[in-house]
Amino acid sequence: MTAPKVLVTGGGRGIGRAIALRFAREGARVVVAARTSTELDNVVAEVERAGGAAIAAQMDVRDFGSVEAAVWRAVQFLGDSIDVLVNNAGVFDVQPIDKLDLAKWRWMQEVNVDGPLYVIKESLDALLESERAHVFNIASAAAKRGFPGNIAYCASKYALRGLSDALREDLRPKGVRVSTVYPGATDTTIFDRVPGAWDRTKMNRPEDVAEVIWRAWNAPASENVDDLDVPPRAP
Ligand SMILES: NC(=O)c1ccc[n+]([C@@H]2O[C@H](COP(=O)([O-])OP(=O)(O)OC[C@H]3O[C@@H](n4cnc5c(N)ncnc54)[C@H](OP(=O)(O)O)[C@@H]3O)[C@@H](O)[C@H]2O)c1
Repeated sequence: MTAPKVLVTGGGRGIGRAIALRFAREGARVVVAARTSTELDNVVAEVERAGGAAIAAQMDVRDFGSVEAAVWRAVQFLGDSIDVLVNNAGVFDVQPIDKLDLAKWRWMQEVNVDGPLYVIKESLDALLESERAHVFNIASAAAKRGFPGNIAYCASKYALRGLSDALREDLRPKGVRVSTVYPGATDTTIFDRVPGAWDRTKMNRPEDVAEVIWRAWNAPASENVDDLDVPPRAP
């Protein structure tokens, strides 16, 4: 198998970084995209040490112009086609209805829903150039059930799930696989600024999510990889 060509958003830390490194172990060419260039540069160096090739592409997924420029740069590096697009960039905050900040509501919809749409739209031609294109949309367990204080986050992830499931119907006839990924709580910086008693010992590791994605990419075409759950580890 030739080394996959990968674009991962939110690749500077957490789950996105783990995905970049998992594919790097297979010799992949990886474009890591996010806003914080120092984090991206660190991941590029880690990917290279792990056996892959990488560049950083600064991108704010809320800004279509920024997505356009970063995807163009990604396609130049990857060589006209994208095999694996991981829409991973995402944000989370706890916002109970009686304290809901509308700016926070909009922020979560813009990053978690508009962002993946912009990246997919800009990457489509390059995905269609690939012999083995696969889009992974990182939703959440919060795309399947409600959690207290999560109206904004759940609304955004249910929307991403809908986008992903409908996208699959559009792209299936064109030979592009689309997986919707539902991680349970995973120990990353996403919880750092959010008040709450988060027991990180019971959470997944980012590498658990990365492994599920790698296996789905590697699965034979006959295998159903539409919905990928990553439940928390057994205690
Ligand atoms: N951790 C969990 O428990 C969990 C569970 C289920 C699903 N998820 C989902 O998994 C994904 C990754 O989460 P994580 O836990 O790894 O979070 P994280 O550690 O906070 O990392 C989030 C990544 O997204 C990037 N990002 C945030 N806003 C962005 C923007 N406007 N434009 C471009 N990139 C942006 C961040 O980089 P910059 O800030 O530098 O831009 C960072 O690289 C998210 O979609 C999240 O909703 C997480």
